[in-house]
Amino acid sequence: MSTQPYIITPDVVKSQNVDTLNRYIEENKSGLHRQLLSSGAILFRGFNVHEASDFEKIALQVDSDLKNDYLGTSPRNIVNGTKYVFSASELPPYYPIMQHCEMSFLPTAPRRIMFYCFVEPKIGGETPICDFRKVAADMNPKIKQEFKDKGLLVIRNYCAPGKEEKNSFQLKPWVEMFQSTDKTVVEQKCAVNDIQVEWLKDDALRLISKHDAFKIHPETGEEAWFNHLQVFHTDAAAIEYQKIARRQKTINSWGLNLYLQVLTMYKRLTENPINHSMHVQFADGTEIHKKYVQHIQDLIWKHLYFLKWKKGDVIVVDNFSTSHGRMPFKGPRSIQVAWTA
Ligand SMILES: [Fe+2]
Repeated sequence: MSTQPYIITPDVVKSQNVDTLNRYIEENKSGLHRQLLSSGAILFRGFNVHEASDFEKIALQVDSDLKNDYLGTSPRNIVNGTKYVFSASELPPYYPIMQHCEMSFLPTAPRRIMFYCFVEPKIGGETPICDFRKVAADMNPKIKQEFKDKGLLVIRNYCAPGKEEKNSFQLKPWVEMFQSTDKTVVEQKCAVNDIQVEWLKDDALRLISKHDAFKIHPETGEEAWFNHLQVFHTDAAAIEYQKIARRQKTINSWGLNLYLQVLTMYKRLTENPINHSMHVQFADGTEIHKKYVQHIQDLIWKHLYFLKWKKGDVIVVDNFSTSHGRMPFKGPRSIQVAWTA
């Protein structure tokens, strides 16, 4: 088990050509599959992956069961000329994306997620990955047992359509997420995904779902931390930005860190957590103490691997064992994504 991705270069494949790489993937399917289960991620580096259509071919070669329906929280756009390739996230560059297994809050989260570097960032913008099996193994046994016994409640609040505030920490509009203005469509999609729907004033929307905190990998039987606590909990962003500021050591990041500490404290004092744009409680409705969130994020950072992108990189991630996120960045950056069933 290793957090560091297994790296495949043209030295191994004997060519930089994408078609040759695709043949290599086809001929070594079972070996690559075993490698992915063990290392959690495989990075293809140094190949001539010039554009999204090249990436899509590789992604389909790795796993032909790609999907393009998305019930996640990142604003994301399809890349023209492809069927399965999207921009990874349209969230503002300063916004941290905390470590998560893709769509862990759905009963059918993707098995694999793949990323492609179209434009490499120059300042920040790494995509760290983390072996969530190690996070599960390293947890304080008492805290771990409490998460196992109680399970989690994920709460998401979406503004009334047309009444979105200018606040980057709010979720994208629900009409965008569900690709419909029809409330019955929302209710049907949520019913399929075991999500409880509450319509609030002016058609604002609250989604509530219950989850286990851990997942047993269906192929290896290994246990992994598998939920969005460190993304959605009210205290998570402030804890994350403190760590980011310590790493990036820039005036901007220290400024944003301070802003988030104050904003989080203000939210805590003035608003019922059930009304925060995102939040996580224990499934019995009791609050999860900040020290638990801190413990989880400390463990995640202990095991982070910071993938510094090179143009053309393609990384395949086992979503049932390994998480991904995004560091804040400055300047151009284009990372694209595809995912499987
Ligand atoms: Fe993601």
